[in-house]
Amino acid sequence: MMKKLSISIIISFLYFLANFSAAHSAVLDISKFGGSPNVDITKAFTSAWNEACASISAAKIVIPSGTYKMGLLEVKGPCKAPVEVQVDGTIQAPPNNADLKGAEQWIRFDSIESLTLSGKGVFDGQGAAAWKGASIAWKDKSHGTGSDKRAINIYFAACTNTLVTGITSKDSKYFHFNVLGCNNITFDGVTIIAPDESPNTDGIHMGRSNGVTITNTNIGTGDDCVSLGDGSKKVTVQNVNCGPGHGISVGSLGKYPNEENVEGFLVKNCTLTKTENGVRIKTWPDTPGKITVTDMHFEDITMNNVMNPVIVDQEYCPWNQCSKKNPSQIKLSKVTFKNIKGTSGTAEGVTIICSSGVPCDGVELNNVDLTFNGAPATAKCSHVNPLVTGKAPVCGASASASPSGSSGSASASPSASPAQESAPKEEKLPSKKGASSKEEKEDDD
Ligand SMILES: *[C@@H]1O[C@H](CO)[C@@H](O)[C@H](O)[C@H]1NC(C)=O
Ligand SMILES: *[C@@H]1O[C@H](CO)[C@@H](O)[C@H](O)[C@H]1NC(C)=O
Repeated sequence: MMKKLSISIIISFLYFLANFSAAHSAVLDISKFGGSPNVDITKAFTSAWNEACASISAAKIVIPSGTYKMGLLEVKGPCKAPVEVQVDGTIQAPPNNADLKGAEQWIRFDSIESLTLSGKGVFDGQGAAAWKGASIAWKDKSHGTGSDKRAINIYFAACTNTLVTGITSKDSKYFHFNVLGCNNITFDGVTIIAPDESPNTDGIHMGRSNGVTITNTNIGTGDDCVSLGDGSKKVTVQNVNCGPGHGISVGSLGKYPNEENVEGFLVKNCTLTKTENGVRIKTWPDTPGKITVTDMHFEDITMNNVMNPVIVDQEYCPWNQCSKKNPSQIKLSKVTFKNIKGTSGTAEGVTIICSSGVPCDGVELNNVDLTFNGAPATAKCSHVNPLVTGKAPVCGASASASPSGSSGSASASPSASPAQESAPKEEKLPSKKGASSKEEKEDDD
């Protein structure tokens, strides 16, 4: 009798608990919508999303451990309350570009407020087959068209108050994450992984976004770990490991007339290992862009055998596809490098080539202590008069017009070949149509 009573008490208590938590956050397990391991969960996810997004209280979609397949997924807000998507399993993209129907991305979250993407799961872009056809895309200066288009793994468009935490993005066909037109988005404890030779697999690319934080994140990939397109504001990259990859980049900027200013970038306590560049800002010469780039701060950074560890290049002109007749009109100011230490993979540790038309202002080097083959790395500067404090290399004059063009050590390296630097960079510039565009730039001219 006693036993029966206590069981019924426990049952009603559990029932109460279930209701209580449901009222606070409805949990929508993917299995409820017909999703299970080894099957395609595109439809199940879409149904779960529709229910979660319509919920008047916070809702959570859960994809438990297991391996799932998923096709093109595009979910949209606005939703009635915050939505969390917790992925503990591995979700695989279709390996062929064609199966994503020429879409910009595999998974798109659009116009959503208060979205959390969490869990210990993996978004596996299965990019290997797509990378093989990539040389064609490079020649076309685009990430392919139609069914050849290589998809970004996860695209956040016009999102507000987004948190991405715990998850892994692996082997994307193109960028891993793209952030466009977002306000307040944080990546915390995320892992991004792809082979170093995988083309254009940037870790996190952003543009036209305000308040982007990337912390406690490990990025090893085939292109930039983090890259900032035009209109990036208040961006923080902290406690991040980058490598392999092409480093942490601002730009390229200036190619198009209606780009937006870039302001407020802090890179702090980061380690870069064997990357093709360290921290970098690059703008095109002889282009109509007239924006300003200001408040760029790089501090407490360890370089492990990094090529071009500190590089500002306002004569960025890969493939000689532009003229250097006229200087870049992009004004750089308040750019500081502080406590940068470690080993350089190039003789030049610091390269600061500013525009002859609008020289840089407020550049500071404070304790920049880099070695190349055991000797202090050198510095090359032009059209800039940096304030140097603490230990830092003496700024030599620029021997050549371009840091990448004729600097012996840089061009001697096969991996610094212009092929790696061309189309993918321009590709990242958002659409010329303007800030409100939710589409990434489709084609290059
Ligand atoms: C930014 O977004 C996070 C995550 O959704 C949220 O917790 C935080 O309150 C937001 N910050 C502001 C200033 O709105
Ligand atoms: C610096 O970043 C590393 C992760 O790369 C982290 O373990 C460490 O705690 C951070 N240090 C500080 C002072 O935040």
